[in-house]
Amino acid sequence: MMDTTAHDHHPSMSTEVLDARQDPQTAIDRACMLINSGEVVAFPTETVYGLGARIFDARQIEKIFRAKDRPSDNPLIAHISSLHQVHDICDEISDSMRLLMQTFFPGPLTLVGYRKLSVPSIVSAGLKTIAFRMPSHTLALKLIDCVGQPIVAPSANRSGRPSPTRAEHVLHDLNGRISAVLDGGPCSIGLESTVLSMVDKEPCILRPGAITKEQIEECLGTKVLSSGAEDGVVAIAPGMKYRHYAPSIPVLQITSLDERSSLPANVVILAEHVDVNDPRVRPLRADSLYDEFRKAEAVGCVAVYVLLGPQTTSNAALMNRLQKALTASTSS
Ligand code: TXA
Ligand code: MG
Repeated sequence: MMDTTAHDHHPSMSTEVLDARQDPQTAIDRACMLINSGEVVAFPTETVYGLGARIFDARQIEKIFRAKDRPSDNPLIAHISSLHQVHDICDEISDSMRLLMQTFFPGPLTLVGYRKLSVPSIVSAGLKTIAFRMPSHTLALKLIDCVGQPIVAPSANRSGRPSPTRAEHVLHDLNGRISAVLDGGPCSIGLESTVLSMVDKEPCILRPGAITKEQIEECLGTKVLSSGAEDGVVAIAPGMKYRHYAPSIPVLQITSLDERSSLPANVVILAEHVDVNDPRVRPLRADSLYDEFRKAEAVGCVAVYVLLGPQTTSNAALMNRLQKALTASTSS
């Protein structure tokens, strides 16, 4: 018998592509109108594309979980366009949080504080806390302004897929499942924001991103913890237990470019230095990692090989995503 449970049933809709590079205001107005009429719309941020709904509309937020096939216990990030909006969604804002907001907003830093009870609990998957950030992308800021309340948005990929850094990636995963995507071109950072919990005694990085632990420590003048396995502390960001950031083909590591000769032709090798004589070698960089993963799949490569170098190993966010992609593909 066919499974027709609500969870598996997705009435197909046509997904509009709103080109914000030609005529940004018309595209933003249309995206805003759709969101304000209860539809979910993908939009660019400086990190990755998000899939947005109004924070005070629980029904609309349910559509995000359905479109992505996202487990309901994985909380969402609220996106604000103005500092005063923090008071509508977060309680007990500390001096440290204020300092972090002054220093890093707008930008790729997400703070976790206590959720105001007026914010629907579906946003936080039932947690008492709420994650929020102010993106620095002009289109995102204008869209939030136009909508008139914070927009909650996870990354606009199917659950388990690499985050989208281009509108085409969003369409690949969600075409027919969302009303529209606001196309603002490629995202400049290309990896998800740093998630910093401010609800424990000490600040703790739940997910590394472009804002580094050192930058946060310098801002606060205190030590900052990391929940990463490298510190021997268990992962506490709910989303961290899911398979993430990995393409559907294996991601494997090589330790020298000499190993290339034994690899098949239809693979991609990500390395810090490309080799003009070997088209399989592609750049290993934060801002193009997910695009390279997706391109490798799309052209039928059988595997992605990664050659780590000093610029990669010193980039905590990039290493974190690579480790997840490597582990996920070897352990599943
Ligand atoms: O750069 C980004 O953060 C992008 C763009 C769209 O803003 N968003 C993004 O959202 O990556 P998402 O849903 O893919 O990842 C959000 C992460 C998850 O790991 C989630 O578990 C964590 O933030 N998170 C959200 N709310 C939380 C909370 N209340 N406590 C702890 N972790 C939370
Ligand atoms: Mg995500």
